This record gives sequence, structure tokens and C-alpha cells, in this order.
Amino acid sequence: NRVLVLHGVNLDQLGRRPAAHYGTVTLDRLERGISEHAAELGLRVQFFQSNHEGAFVERLHRADDMADALILNPGAWTHYSWAIRDALEIAGLPAVEVHLSDVNAREEWRRVSVIRELCIATVAGKGPDGYRDALERVREALVSNEA
Ligand code: DQA
Repeated sequence: NRVLVLHGVNLDQLGRRPAAHYGTVTLDRLERGISEHAAELGLRVQFFQSNHEGAFVERLHRADDMADALILNPGAWTHYSWAIRDALEIAGLPAVEVHLSDVNAREEWRRVSVIRELCIATVAGKGPDGYRDALERVREALVSNEA
């Protein structure tokens, strides 16, 4: 089973963002950790990151070509991009939303997620470990689909 892991705006800057919320891990290291967990779970992963909303949307349009499920952390787009919400609907794949920080314990505007209703699960506030939870949720969803 193939999982596409998408990171949105500013997530390429991990390592330079407030450590209190995001820790010190870089995107490169985060992705390597995700690859290791995925291998343990028997999942194949691919990664995508963009700071451009249109590129992110177009990646979602093509997602079903090569992925069976999605894990996405759209960064700040999470809170207001109806375009990404609609593109996720077009992708039509099981998706898990992940946030490194505890978005519910920060500013009020971060409590809103325009993608939540399209996701089978949301994981927030667990740092890099949250992606392991997300991979497990994705695997459960794919296995129950096969049954
Ligand atoms: C984030 C939380 C968002 O509110 C923020 O804009 C980000 C990262 C997270 O992973 O905690 O860029 O998605």
C-alpha cells in the first residue's frame, strides 16, 4: 500500500520555527523517521512539500494515480484554504490530518480546520510521533478496505 505524505506552507522551514511548538527536527529528518515507521508497517511512502497553494492543489488532483491514502499537514492552509479542502475531496482517498503542535491549545484561529470533515482522523500535539499514529490509522483504514 502506498501513502503520500504532504507538507504545506512553511514546513520546509522546520528547524527554524519556534521550537516550543515544533521542536528542532528538520523536514528532512522528519521524513526519514516517517519512512522508517512506514517500512515497519509495510507501507510505501512518498513525500511532497510546497509553499505554493496551487502546486499543493495540483498534487492532490494527481494523488489517486499513485497513492492509496494520504497523510497531510497543510500548515496554516489548514485553517482557511477552501481550495485545498475541495482538492482533497477530489482526491477521494482516505486521509489523516497531522499537526506537530497542539493546534487546539494555541490561538483561536488555529482551532479551525477546513479539512477535518474529510479526514478519517486528526492527530495534533504529538510532534513527530504523531506521524506514526497517522501511519497506523492509514494502515487500519486500508486493511479494513481489503477485508
Ligand atoms: C502546523 C500548525 C499550523 O497552525 C501552523 O500554521 C503550521 C504547522 C503544525 O504542524 O503544528 O505551519 O500545521
